[in-house]
This record gives sequence, structure tokens and C-alpha cells, in this order.
Amino acid sequence: MTEFKDYDITSNTGFKTPVLFERFFIVNEKTEKSQFVDNISPYEPIIIGDATNYLFVKELFPSAIKYEGDSITILEESHNSSIIRVEAGRNWHNFVMQSLQLGLFNLENLALIPGTVGAAPVQNIGAYGREVSDSIKTVHCVSISTGEHIQLSAKECSFSYRQSIFKHQEFKNLLITHVDFELSKLENPIANYPDVAVYLEQQRNIHPSALDIAHAIISIRTNKLPDPSEIGNAGSFFKNPIIDITIYESLVSKYPSLPKYDIDDIHVKVPAGWLIDQSGFKGIRINGAGVHEKQALVLINADNAHGKDIYELALMIQHKVHALFGIMLEPEVNILL
Ligand code: EPU
Repeated sequence: MTEFKDYDITSNTGFKTPVLFERFFIVNEKTEKSQFVDNISPYEPIIIGDATNYLFVKELFPSAIKYEGDSITILEESHNSSIIRVEAGRNWHNFVMQSLQLGLFNLENLALIPGTVGAAPVQNIGAYGREVSDSIKTVHCVSISTGEHIQLSAKECSFSYRQSIFKHQEFKNLLITHVDFELSKLENPIANYPDVAVYLEQQRNIHPSALDIAHAIISIRTNKLPDPSEIGNAGSFFKNPIIDITIYESLVSKYPSLPKYDIDDIHVKVPAGWLIDQSGFKGIRINGAGVHEKQALVLINADNAHGKDIYELALMIQHKVHALFGIMLEPEVNILL
């Protein structure tokens, strides 16, 4: 275990807004139970990976903890699939590309998502027709309060759209250390998401490989989403709201271009980016905070914004979207007030 005092992670966060921790703990596989119980747990640290999906509204926090270690081990191999254990500190995109190099498939649609392997299950990252929960077998954690190691099956993680038990208050003391993925040795590319389909058509690629899908998505994301190393952002700021189909029908009679994705017989998901765009926020700049000009769902640190500037812009957006469409947008980003 390493402990840093007055640790500034501003330049490593998604939004690049100022943030300092009085104590910052870095732990790994060798950290002992007694160190969790005696040295770390009393400070109730916030768990962070690469802090790519956090908005720090306050600028000074008592403590945080991060797991380091990025090994990859193949645990089991069968004819059609492999089970692979990855340490939480590994960069997500690096792992996706490595899985493809190993001839293991199903993560290709999740290429270029910022953050770590350990953060992926927390919000059940998803993009272009796949969610990470489809490939997770087991999540390994350590309880910060007791130092005990705990294993959770995918079912026990209660994954749903951008949700898992790790977002619930009573599980906030579970630090993810490893994730076991079950990946296919057979390619099963999903290429029907509109942006991906259009890209592949332009390339005249009618039988894309998994690697082609990854390259298509890298290109789409690079063109549409700001690179967090250049412009502070945390990807989609809000979740796409799931609404009753009856509400959708009354909205679409007023706004015929409102897109939808079917969820079940009575619910549809509507794109928050469309709602924010129609509310007139695309490209706006207020006190250094902004809304990306190519994707209204992405809030950005346009010019030395502080966390509170981005937070205030988010509240303004929530308010206007609610007033216009009667829909309350829920943040996807973890907001620390
Ligand atoms: N749209 C607009 N204006 C905008 C942005 C979007 O009209 O400014 C419309 C688009 O035309 C499209 C629809 O909204 O009809 C959906 O937009 P897009 O395909 O860009 O995807 P999204 O729903 O905004 C979601 C995920 C992304 C993921 C993409 C692709 C959420 C909250 N976001 O975005 O995930 O990459 O689909 O699968 O589910 C993230 O979570 O950080 C993230 C980037």
C-alpha cells in the first residue's frame, strides 16, 4: 500500500477540473487485510479508477483509493471460449485490443471507451449494441471495511443499462480487484448500430471481422467524441431516459423526428442527446463549461472550468429538458458534491 498526502489528480480526471485529496491510497494484490481495516477504512475513501467518469464538484476531498495492477491471465480454455482474468487497473481500451490479438471476441464494440477494467462493471459500460455485462463471468472485490475478498457472479452484480450493485450505497465499500471475462473464440460481429452500419457501407465492407468493427468504432468515436486528453469530458453526461410508450407517442406527435429504441412492450429509450440538442444547448459555452458541438450528450471543460461550472450547466440542461419534454434526465456520470 502506498499513501500520498495532498494528492492532486486534476490532470488525470475526465473533466480536468481542479481536485485534491488529503489522503490517496494506492493498493494492490499484496495489500493486507489489516492495512484495509486499520489504515484505510477509517477514512472511508472514495473508490476511483482513472476518474474518467467522475465530476468533482467540490475541490477538496478527505480521501480516495485506487487499485493498481494490470495483469491478464487465461484461466480456462474450451473449444469455443476462454475465461480470462484481468486486474482492475488495466486500461480498458488496451485490454479490448489485446483480447482481439488473442483471438477472443465480443468486446470489439466497446473499443476506445476511457477508463479501467475495474470501472467497466460499475456502470456496465456499453456502446454500439453491446454491454460489458454480456461478457462478465465473475467480479472479484475486496471490502475496504473488513479486508475480506468477495466474489460476485454476473447475476449477483444485477447488471442493467448503465447500472450494477456497485452503484448502490450499501456496496460502495467494495473495491473491484479483478474481473473474469468469458470471451468467444468465434467471431460474432454486431454491426447493425446505425453509425457502424453506415461506416462499413462507406468502406464497402459487407463481412466485417471483429477487428474491422473495432476499427470502425475507433474511427466513429474519434470523429464524434472529444478526446479527454485534449478536451476535458466524461463521455455521455446523462443516461438515455427510458419512458412509457404512451408518453413517447404523445411526444412524437409534437416532435415527429424524436428517435426511439424499443425496450419492451411498454417502454422505449429516447436519446438524451437529441433532447438536449432540441433544447438549444449544442455548442453552448457558459463559465468555461460547454456542450460539445458534435454530440449534445457530452459536456466539456471548454476553458478552465471548475467542477461547479459543469455541474451548474448540467442542472440548467436538466431543468430546460424537463420544462420542454417533461423528462427528468438522470446523470450517467458520478457526481461528487
Ligand atoms: N442526437 C442528436 N443530437 C445530438 C446527439 C445525438 O440529435 O447532439 C441523436 C442522434 O442523431 C441519434 C441519437 O440521438 O439519433 C443517438 O445518438 P448517438 O448514436 O450518438 O448515441 P447516444 O444515444 O447519444 C449512446 C451511449 C454512448 C455510446 C453510443 C453508441 C448512453 C448514455 N450513451 O449515446 O455511450 O457510445 O450510444 O452506442 O447510453 C457513454 O456512455 O459515455 C457513451 C459515450
